[in-house]
Amino acid sequence: MFEEIRNFGQIKLEDEWISHIKTYMSDSRFEHTLGVTTVAVYLSEFYDVDKDLVRKTALLHDIAKDMSPDEMANIAGKYGYQIQDISLQYEANLHAEIGALIAEHEFGLYDKDALNAIRFHVCARPDMSLLEKIIFLSDHAEPQRPNQPMLRTLIEIAKTDINLSILRMLRVVIEYQVSNSIPKYVCDITSEAYDYLLEDYCKTDQIYDQSPENNDILSDEEFDEAFELIRCNQIKLKSVENARWIKDLLTNSGRKIKDGLLIRSGSLHQLTDEEADYLNTLGLSLVIDLRTPMEVAQAPDKSIAGVRYENIPLVENIDTSMMDYLTQRYMQSLSETDRAWYVEQYARIDEVIKMYRNISMDARSLDSIHRIFQLLRESPGTILFHCTSGKDRTGIIAALLLLALGCDKKYIISDYNASAVTLFTKTESIKADLGVRGNGKENLKRGLQTSISVVPEVLRSGLYYIENNYFSNDSFIFEATGCNDRELELLRNKFLV
Ligand SMILES: [Fe+2]
Ligand SMILES: [Fe+2]
Repeated sequence: MFEEIRNFGQIKLEDEWISHIKTYMSDSRFEHTLGVTTVAVYLSEFYDVDKDLVRKTALLHDIAKDMSPDEMANIAGKYGYQIQDISLQYEANLHAEIGALIAEHEFGLYDKDALNAIRFHVCARPDMSLLEKIIFLSDHAEPQRPNQPMLRTLIEIAKTDINLSILRMLRVVIEYQVSNSIPKYVCDITSEAYDYLLEDYCKTDQIYDQSPENNDILSDEEFDEAFELIRCNQIKLKSVENARWIKDLLTNSGRKIKDGLLIRSGSLHQLTDEEADYLNTLGLSLVIDLRTPMEVAQAPDKSIAGVRYENIPLVENIDTSMMDYLTQRYMQSLSETDRAWYVEQYARIDEVIKMYRNISMDARSLDSIHRIFQLLRESPGTILFHCTSGKDRTGIIAALLLLALGCDKKYIISDYNASAVTLFTKTESIKADLGVRGNGKENLKRGLQTSISVVPEVLRSGLYYIENNYFSNDSFIFEATGCNDRELELLRNKFLV
């Protein structure tokens, strides 16, 4: 996508105006400014907005950033400007206010909207104009900022839904503010911006893109459906969590998934001999273990006579991101005993939260998925795939398989939701423990809760992203599964009645 952006917003460096801007700032600041401008101009193509104004505003947004507080105070004095409380309490905002002054008086940018976009580009504010939104987002998402995969997603979303994109961005900003003890007065302004947008956003009809914490329990109907699915599909194994058949689901072409070929479950490390025998009687021929090598080393699957075992980690190393950073900080704030408990319970927190969104951007994950689909196509007999609890990584493979077989999304979501029934008591007891142990970091507690809960929105939005953002629509399933036409046909003939 950045290729597209680059081709798009070529900044002409010979422009005299730009040369003048360059004299106000360091090389790295100038680089940042060009990055912001490029993204802003790119985004403005998707909206009815004055593109020249967007360009000028972006170029000027950090014009005061390299000045000292004294220099900025002098400029305020020179133009008779009263510095606002927000900058008095939070110096990092001062360059935004002074930047607007310089833009107006020294660059002749008189447009009120543009000046506001500069003034509010750091902390945002409620009821932002389109131009303010574009500048705010571009500043926070330009190509030199860390965590590019996430930012690229936000820019991609912003092409059609800038409010959603900014909501996501504001969450990151607010988490940063809270964990860095930014004054409450400042946090409140950004939080108001978030609440204002959220209210607006909830009026729109975006079923795939609500944030998980608003949806962290299933509705009664969804629970009923999940109970029914478990009643029909559960495989009773005392020592294996969440074991069940994937069967009987209808595809869009009217075919059904065959009975007796596909099992999804949690880890097999406590499997008893009798249970291993029982799995043998089901015709089990292959176990695909989606856990990382470290998890496998800690709790290896019991081997089952005559059954092939393949460890194909779905997720290995994940980029350091804001979430990792916050999680680490949170961990550091805990006592040693509590920390050990968290590490044990939530070793995979980052994977869970990011996996659904990022899996198709991670080449190694895609590679794993392609290998798994090859095994699914080529291995005879019953195949069992599992991770630890059989919810998330297992859920992703199940979802992709069901998509490839042509199932409607509503069946895919019900299959995922069934984990809510099987893991219910475990989830609730961890939540209770979390309530006792968690010490006040609400946003992280929420994140941790999301990671252990069954949240249909997580899967829904994951599917939506995989389908719409990372793959060209028509070829999505080929790219995601690594199957060509003929192989997909093989897969369907193998697993469908
Ligand atoms: Fe700035
Ligand atoms: Fe900036």
